[in-house]
Amino acid sequence: MESSMKPIGVFDSGVGGISVLRELVKQMPGEDFIYFGDSVHAPYGTKPLEEVRQLTITNVRFLLESGAKSIVVACNTATSAAVAQLRKMYPDVPLVGIEPAIKPAVMYKENSCIVVMATPMTLKEEKFQKLMHQYENMADIVPLPCPGLMEFVERGILDGEELTIYLERLLGSVNKNINSVVLGCTHYPFVRDVIQRIAGNRVVVFDGGEGTAREMKRRLAEAGLLRQGSHSGRTRFINSLDTDDELKLCEFLLTYKK
Ligand code: DGL
Repeated sequence: MESSMKPIGVFDSGVGGISVLRELVKQMPGEDFIYFGDSVHAPYGTKPLEEVRQLTITNVRFLLESGAKSIVVACNTATSAAVAQLRKMYPDVPLVGIEPAIKPAVMYKENSCIVVMATPMTLKEEKFQKLMHQYENMADIVPLPCPGLMEFVERGILDGEELTIYLERLLGSVNKNINSVVLGCTHYPFVRDVIQRIAGNRVVVFDGGEGTAREMKRRLAEAGLLRQGSHSGRTRFINSLDTDDELKLCEFLLTYKK
């Protein structure tokens, strides 16, 4: 098969990366996708670094062995743990990892207060620390670890009392006048409405899905790997939690409103 006709591989620790997948599908409707979610081992964000690195490497290898022409690491946690190693292992594969969308939030308003919601690992790792230092003179950046939040999405809970109480406590712990919130975990865009409701309409919410999809498209074009001709793209879901319910949740999230 011609390389450009192969699918784009997308990986996340669970179903969260589907928030990136829907942006990829929107920007490249003619491409096929293969999405692997590792829900059996989720959450990654509270595990030891080396374990997440190994899981990520194993899962990316699986996608490449399954015929993926390029890889989107649609997980901020896995990106911070393993993207440097992956780039060394696969220098010829277009590979894009998502990271918290701090730059657009900094550009949106000068000297604003930006809360970055992410997993404990993403916020602790060097990649994020470097990103934060890069912009620390231009904004008040407040890292907000959210252990337990991705689990709501994994269970298909996208609204309701339990989630609202959890998020009210979490956002209430930031004793500042928040201007924007960066969703630094790919599960969080699925609970964006609840976050917006609690934070208030004046707060602008950013996520990295659109920028990541744009970067993948650019990298494919550069490598001559964008699929040509009229083809209606398809997505194949694979999850380590191989149940009908899990696959139904994946299909549901792919069409879930933004
Ligand atoms: N979607 C992952 C991320 O973007 C979730 C993290 C987890 O598995 O804890 O960080």
